[in-house]
Amino acid sequence: MKLKILVGTMTSTADYVAQAIQMDCADLVSEIEVLLMDDLDISVFDAANAEDALYLICTSTYGSGDVPDNARALYESLGANPQFLGHVRYGVIALGDRTYMQTFCFGGKKFDERLTDLGAQRIGDVWLHDASSGTMPETEGTEWCRTWLAGALQTLGASSATA
Ligand SMILES: Cc1cc2nc3c(=O)[nH]c(=O)nc-3n(C[C@H](O)[C@H](O)[C@H](O)COP(=O)(O)O)c2cc1C
Repeated sequence: MKLKILVGTMTSTADYVAQAIQMDCADLVSEIEVLLMDDLDISVFDAANAEDALYLICTSTYGSGDVPDNARALYESLGANPQFLGHVRYGVIALGDRTYMQTFCFGGKKFDERLTDLGAQRIGDVWLHDASSGTMPETEGTEWCRTWLAGALQTLGASSATA
């Protein structure tokens, strides 16, 4: 099983989280690929790409509850060129700040909503990180991801030995 982490970021925090996961979780899957969302569109979820893969959306929130600039094309592509994504299994890391009470972590939540609408199957809960909490998203995100990946692999009946 491969893990594809799709990163939406403005000031690189989400990218640091993805890279920490890539280093720390390498023993759990056969390959971890980190892809910035720049230049991606819905085709990243094509059946050929999704075969034997889990996706992890790892994105922050900007503006008033918007996805970051580098995530906009992918997010809009999911709406503009809708395709059934029933073959896609994914998780979500949503970075935000509770100071923005009305729109906390909306970037990740928006991706989750759109993927669910297209029939993709989320595994586990959306993981939320609050920048105002003072905790390190790389450390906490990696811990969450290890647990999430182990559960996902069990759910899917896969193991690193067969991946
Ligand atoms: C101008 C600006 C707008 C933001 N808007 C929101 C928001 O609406 N909701 C939210 O939860 N976080 C918001 N944030 C917080 C960021 O999502 C958070 O700091 C995140 O960790 C940044 O990750 P990044 O470096 O990967 O972009 C905002 C931050 C900035 C600087």
